[in-house]
Amino acid sequence: MTEAILLVGGKGTRLRPLTVNTPKPMIPAAGVPFLTHQLARARAAGVEHVVMATSYLAEVFEPYFGDGSALGLSLEYVTEEEPLGTGGAIRNVASRLHSGPDDPVLVFNGDILTGLDIRALVAAHGSSGADVSLHLTRVDDPRAFGLVPTDPTGRVSAFLEKPQTPEEIVTDQINAGAYVFRRSVIDTIPAGRPVSVERETFPELLASGAHLQGMVDSTYWLDLGTPQAFVRGSADLVLGRAPSPAVPGRCGDRLVLPTARVAPDAKLTGGTVVGEDAVIGAGARITGSTILAGAVVEAGAVVTDSLVGAGATVGARTTLTEAVIGDGATVGPDNELRAGARVWCDTELPPRAIRFSSDE
Ligand code: GTP
Repeated sequence: MTEAILLVGGKGTRLRPLTVNTPKPMIPAAGVPFLTHQLARARAAGVEHVVMATSYLAEVFEPYFGDGSALGLSLEYVTEEEPLGTGGAIRNVASRLHSGPDDPVLVFNGDILTGLDIRALVAAHGSSGADVSLHLTRVDDPRAFGLVPTDPTGRVSAFLEKPQTPEEIVTDQINAGAYVFRRSVIDTIPAGRPVSVERETFPELLASGAHLQGMVDSTYWLDLGTPQAFVRGSADLVLGRAPSPAVPGRCGDRLVLPTARVAPDAKLTGGTVVGEDAVIGAGARITGSTILAGAVVEAGAVVTDSLVGAGATVGARTTLTEAVIGDGATVGPDNELRAGARVWCDTELPPRAIRFSSDE
């Protein structure tokens, strides 16, 4: 039986202010904390034991997921006193693993939404005899990523930092944030200090002659690290473009949780989610957006590709496009926010305070 480590301790700085009160893996995507999708997918691939490596806002995971039995899993939690980075976090949970020295152990970043065939990754790991196997995905624009070129057999030949010049773009393959480690390799990561698996462990293993195998799997893949990506991922789950057994309801144009109240003439499209107890006013138009629990979108507001935090209010006729409204914030009526605007938690924007148009 394969077991898994989930890395869920990051600060999620790129997602602020959503991560001010909630660690990134606990932000709801398609109506449930994002982590639920990853756990359900791991379970569906045959994983039974998962160790969660927690650090930032560590205390919120266990009260929600408990011993994991609701998902058919056995879950354990290990909290770092100081953040240990991705490699340090993996090393820090080693004592909780049940696997023998040669057994495969899955490791997942806690912020990746993917249709990866997990069983295929484990099978490829077994057949190649690798020390570590990595899920690789291809991206159109590799400039923002570390690159992972492989030889014709799939063996990793280098780990390259973000390319600075066109000549440095030698491949479009990037590290997709899911790995299989031979258990004994985990024990070689230095204990008790921060270690980055991407920048330290993998390059050092390669330099020492270890066998690192890449498996390119080009199914759905999205790093939910930024607000725009998070909103996209949530909508793709609702639309059924991203696979998850944990979406609470049928896939379609919208997902409205049972206790939400939506005015009959409000228009919800493009994978919009309306969370528990949220209220959507008359004539509001919401596209591709996530409205978290208890939020209020007043009459005539137009919300596109945006995220409205728990208990936040979007005033009447206000327009949001690619905006994030923090938990408990109030955006007064007739505002117009766009292009990456982030309204911090519990702040208040007066009526008609910010406009992009010149009309009154
Ligand atoms: P940003 O601050 O926005 O870059 O996000 P992040 O803190 O989540 O960092 P990043 O996206 O690089 O992290 C990749 C994965 O590793 C995520 O699932 C994080 O939760 C996890 N992670 C990052 N640092 C740590 C850490 O120090 N400890 C643990 N346990 N997990 C970590």
